Amino acid sequence: MQHFTAYLPDESATLALGAALARAVAPGLVIYLHGDLGAGKTALTRALLRACGHQGTVKSPTYTLSEPYRVQLAGAPVNLIHYDLYRMASPEEFLDAGFREDFDGKNICIVEWPEKGEPVLPPPDVRVLLTVSGAGRTVELQALSPQGLLCLDRLSFPAG
Ligand SMILES: Nc1ncnc2c1ncn2[C@@H]1O[C@H](COP(=O)(O)OP(=O)(O)OP(=O)(O)O)[C@@H](O)[C@H]1O
Ligand SMILES: [Mg+2]
Repeated sequence: MQHFTAYLPDESATLALGAALARAVAPGLVIYLHGDLGAGKTALTRALLRACGHQGTVKSPTYTLSEPYRVQLAGAPVNLIHYDLYRMASPEEFLDAGFREDFDGKNICIVEWPEKGEPVLPPPDVRVLLTVSGAGRTVELQALSPQGLLCLDRLSFPAG
């Protein structure tokens, strides 16, 4: 499946999608999260992390730009790194912080505001677009690589 769209009527639907994604992601995956302020990018990431067994808080890494987590996927430990590049001033900041080295084909990298990381941000396997629509959100997922395709093929949402 190359492309997938769903309506998320309330926050619990966003959380359910995050949990579904947790069962579909694999090591090395790069996911871009697009959407306006308050669209639900952090809410989705938080739900994904929770479903991977992370029990602590998940805050938006607004000032640190990145926050690493260690999670279990299918019984194996994986680093999941959550970025929020909204406040990144320049591409040099991304390079100087060593973020490029995080995209090593093993870590799962989830990036809010990827637009701010151009042109130094590595390309995504999956793009998630969240749009405010009425009281809820519309979500579109696009697979952009063979790994991204596998991820969307594994995705079962709504769960059933
Ligand atoms: N499907 C939904 N329907 C309605 N409200 C939702 C839905 N999903 C999430 N929300 C709400 O939308 C808000 C999303 O906030 P969140 O911090 O996740 O946005 P964000 O996209 O990360 O914004 P930012 O760009 O500022 O980081 C929260 O208040 C959450 O409760
Ligand atoms: Mg956010």
